[in-house]
Amino acid sequence: MLSRLPDLPGEEFGRWQKLIQKYSGIWIPEHRKTFLQTSLLRRIRAHKLADYASYYNKLQNGAWGSLEWFYLIDHLTVHETSFVRHGPSFDLVKRFSEARISEALKRESDCKIQVWSVGCSTGEEAYSLALILENLDKQELRRAGLGFYYGVTGLDISLPALQQAREGVFEARKLSALAPRLVSECFEKVSDSEYRIKEEFRKRTCFVRGNLKELRQAPRHNYDIIFCQNVLIYFQPQTRVKILDELVARLLPEGILVLGPGEVTDWKHPDLVRVDDKYCLAYQRRV
Ligand SMILES: C[S@@+](CC[C@H](N)C(=O)[O-])C[C@H]1O[C@@H](n2cnc3c(N)ncnc32)[C@H](O)[C@@H]1O
Repeated sequence: MLSRLPDLPGEEFGRWQKLIQKYSGIWIPEHRKTFLQTSLLRRIRAHKLADYASYYNKLQNGAWGSLEWFYLIDHLTVHETSFVRHGPSFDLVKRFSEARISEALKRESDCKIQVWSVGCSTGEEAYSLALILENLDKQELRRAGLGFYYGVTGLDISLPALQQAREGVFEARKLSALAPRLVSECFEKVSDSEYRIKEEFRKRTCFVRGNLKELRQAPRHNYDIIFCQNVLIYFQPQTRVKILDELVARLLPEGILVLGPGEVTDWKHPDLVRVDDKYCLAYQRRV
């Protein structure tokens, strides 16, 4: 069994890079080689295997390999996230949703907003979006006898991250980005150091496992808001463009795609126009 961290020779590192990219689309650059070695070593130890090569071969072996990928991918993905991580992007979602309410009032129809948090990690992003939608001013809609309906779907490749997201339990320190009023109205204390998001928000959110590299095969649902931040950076430019095209294919006319600032450069799509907001990287789908 391996006890120390042998260096992956260049050739072997290259075949791991390709295998991981083939499975997940994620590209492990040279400067993250030590990170890859550490992740592989954990799994090799867990299975008491002899070396990188034995693990490489077993990973491609039918049912064993399919199951093992779940664990390896969890080690290889970065789950860092927080509530309202990039404030201006969430402000944009709020303005967009308020405009949707005004349009619904003019049309005298219910207001419905479907949101997709792509690469949702442990759920903070999806729940931040739900908090915004839940806390919109809906008095005028109510007065006009109209309804407001929304749903947030979170997608991620990591099963442990999704499990945490579904539970909706967060350490108290993670809630510091939220206004105290929101914390007291939208969360319940479960222990001295933990809070759970209230049932009404959990009912409005669902978390599903999906691989961005395989979006093409995924069922088509259309969304008014697609929020995808701090995910595309793990892919090579040509893979990013393919993922973005699949996201656009799932965006409703007039819907918005919100990316992380600076996450893509020189990307244009014929169906999209850039949202005029210097703090956000967002696009709106033409009618
Ligand atoms: C750094 S987190 C970003 C979380 C959140 N979007 C935010 O901005 O705070 C990146 C997430 O992308 C997910 N991810 C990475 N590759 C993926 C893939 N191929 N398909 C789906 N999710 C993926 C990871 O599991 C991780 O939870």
